[in-house]
Amino acid sequence: MKIALVGGTGDIGTGFAVRWGQKHEIIIGSRNVDKARESVAAVLQFLGAAANVWGTDNASAVAAADVVVLCVPYEHLASVTADLSDSYKEQIVISPVVPMIYNGKFFLYLPPTEGSAAMQARSLLPKGVKVVSAFHTICAAALQDIERAIKGDAFICGDGAEAIDITIGLASEIKGLRPLRAGPLSVSSMVESLTPFLLNVARKNKIKNAGVAIVSERKI
Ligand SMILES: NC(=O)c1ccc[n+]([C@@H]2O[C@H](COP(=O)([O-])OP(=O)(O)OC[C@H]3O[C@@H](n4cnc5c(N)ncnc54)[C@H](OP(=O)(O)O)[C@@H]3O)[C@@H](O)[C@H]2O)c1
Repeated sequence: MKIALVGGTGDIGTGFAVRWGQKHEIIIGSRNVDKARESVAAVLQFLGAAANVWGTDNASAVAAADVVVLCVPYEHLASVTADLSDSYKEQIVISPVVPMIYNGKFFLYLPPTEGSAAMQARSLLPKGVKVVSAFHTICAAALQDIERAIKGDAFICGDGAEAIDITIGLASEIKGLRPLRAGPLSVSSMVESLTPFLLNVARKNKIKNAGVAIVSERKI
């Protein structure tokens, strides 16, 4: 599969690149092609020179991909999505984007009027694109540590069965991660809001590498 990482030079983009670059063609997108190529060099140090990872501008990355992951901070989601709209055809677009703020004491979920970052992306992208919301509670540092199994679940929201199945497949390839279906794209706010919740709990209770997982009843 050809996976474009828009803003893939950053923390979560690097994490996805090292995890999925072992099996897929990864296209690291950036506003700056030189920066994208520097990221490629860093990723290939982990994966070896044979890995199929290359870098380019965000628009060319999107145009070349089957799956696009939006790896930009929420405050740039609207401008980046609008700028690249001509490059989209019928790709699957995965949004791990969390609209949140830190008020000096704790993190707060601050969604746009569309209800969530994923619904905002849906409203800005061409109709043929299938949007899936996923990976919000996965820590970039843990993803980048390629040997580490990720503790926790990946909650996935979306409306298209094929797009969800493909996202579940990609999540399953990340060691330790359990993908769980969380409902249609319209409930993405519930999943996105888990991130500020998780960060607040982790900080207040001094929990390192915190994740979120659904537990089930056990026999005792
Ligand atoms: N970090 C995490 O642990 C984590 C976990 C779950 C979800 N997320 C979500 O993943 C997304 C990315 O997080 P991150 O921590 O990877 O972000 P980041 O490292 O701060 O930034 C990612 C990339 O965004 C691009 N960017 C920065 N300013 C921009 C602008 N004005 N216009 C267009 N692109 C710009 C940059 O790429 P170029 O300079 O190369 O263009 C940058 O490398 C966020 O929405 C976040 O909520 C993050």
